[in-house]
Amino acid sequence: MAALMARMTGPSPPGISSSPPSTSPPAASQPPNSLPVRTIPGSYGWPLLGPISDRLDYFWFQGPETFFRKRIEKHKSTVFRTNVPPTFPWFVGVNPNVVAVLDVKSFSHLFDMEIVEKTDVLVGDFMPSTKFTGDLRVCAYLDTSETKHTQLKKFAMDILKRSSSKWVQTMVSKLDIMWAKIESELSKPNPGTYIPTLQQFLFEFLSICIVGADPSTSPELSKNGFFYLDTWLALQLLPITYTGSFGQPLAELTVHSFPLPFWLAQGGYNKLVEFVEKEGKEAIQIGQNEFGLTPNEAVHNLLFILGFNAYGGFSVFFLSLFNALGDEKNKGVLEKIKNEVREKVGTDSSKLSFESIKEMELVQSFVYETLRLNPPVPLQYARARKDFKLASHDSVFEIKKGELLCGYQALVMRDSEVFDDPESFEAERFTKEKGKELLNYLFWSNGPQTGTPSHSNKQCAAKDVVTLTASLFLANLFQRYDSITISSGSITAVERVAK
Ligand code: HEM
Repeated sequence: MAALMARMTGPSPPGISSSPPSTSPPAASQPPNSLPVRTIPGSYGWPLLGPISDRLDYFWFQGPETFFRKRIEKHKSTVFRTNVPPTFPWFVGVNPNVVAVLDVKSFSHLFDMEIVEKTDVLVGDFMPSTKFTGDLRVCAYLDTSETKHTQLKKFAMDILKRSSSKWVQTMVSKLDIMWAKIESELSKPNPGTYIPTLQQFLFEFLSICIVGADPSTSPELSKNGFFYLDTWLALQLLPITYTGSFGQPLAELTVHSFPLPFWLAQGGYNKLVEFVEKEGKEAIQIGQNEFGLTPNEAVHNLLFILGFNAYGGFSVFFLSLFNALGDEKNKGVLEKIKNEVREKVGTDSSKLSFESIKEMELVQSFVYETLRLNPPVPLQYARARKDFKLASHDSVFEIKKGELLCGYQALVMRDSEVFDDPESFEAERFTKEKGKELLNYLFWSNGPQTGTPSHSNKQCAAKDVVTLTASLFLANLFQRYDSITISSGSITAVERVAK
């Protein structure tokens, strides 16, 4: 690994280098001359038939991971041409042709904003209707060359900065409510799933911190707000989401065959808009006065940040965090994590802060490792801004302007040239000096964990807030409980700490 890092470390991609990270992320834009130039292997197949056959492999016969793995094996390359969903018949004008980039080095090109652009490619060539976002293209769909992207990215980062003073306290008080509900459910003969309770917690906590609006002022929204978001998210994402073998072939004839209409989410979305307009006046005014946004732009971007980026991201991420907590193999390390938490902050939740959590190396490493193996946003796309040479570990490929690159993080983050024993969950992987170095190659946020989100790149605005929030969540859990048992996706027991 050390040799590889030496080969990869170099000038950082322009999109990231505008605000230099603490250590150098992988160099993308300057492939070493020593690598052989190779024609990109793979093909898009016959018109219509090629895309359909790839789509069925992806969604049905293989699933995303095997889909990409099999093609790496077949082409003996981590860079190749393929089709990705959605495809024919009713995705008119959507081009499924991509160049897959599936190792750390080739994937890094996605961060270099001088050679790639990100106009409307958040989820690939397909873009859900702007009806879902108030007839606007929101921040995540904008390229860095667009002035509006600069305004909106700065707005998003400003919201996070302002909310930092109430973030931890709000989270802890809402967690008190969440755990009380989960405990009361556990006392019943047939406890239900914890997922709706977790989502309600996320919705309330994130609404307060991001929009400045407390849903508990409206019983209707407090109860159903997260469900409105779930529906709105599902309708946008189902056409490109792997649903498992469950429901096949029905899914191929329905949700994977045509864009889903906004009107099914309209009622709930309009209620959320009203809520933001009424309760989030301060945030809207900041958007207008300090970032030159119209009220409409502020409202729909706030809702997208709240519902898609934050609520959507955490809903997926926390499920993998719970799975990692429930894994028998992690029992030993969870004891160590508990000891670290108790040693640093005891069991008093008022001692939790962004500062105190930064001292918990093992807690943070557990979070990073969860993100490495289960990146919540597994696919990332970018379009070539110009012709350029793209390097993988072993070859260089010619990319033409306009070609769409597609990276599947779940495989990229298991690149054996960078991560030792890449398939196994090593909770302590990101500790000590070697672990800190590896953060250069942790890409869940569409950039290295050592990078700095800014208006000149497309890295997640909340790169640090996300990992710190998950770490706080874990620390709070071990302040509260001596142990938690999670089995088949359900919390089955908790042992409260003796006070
Ligand atoms: C677990 C939670 C989260 C995950 C997994 C996540 C992940 C990501 C990813 C992968 C991207 C880049 C998408 C792309 O262009 O390909 C992104 C962008 C973004 N995220 Fe996050 N995110 C999370 C939470 C948040 C939160 C709490 C905020 C609140 C401010 C946020 C704000 C943004 C914004 C504004 C962008 C667009 C960046 C740009 O256009 O330059 N995210 N996020």
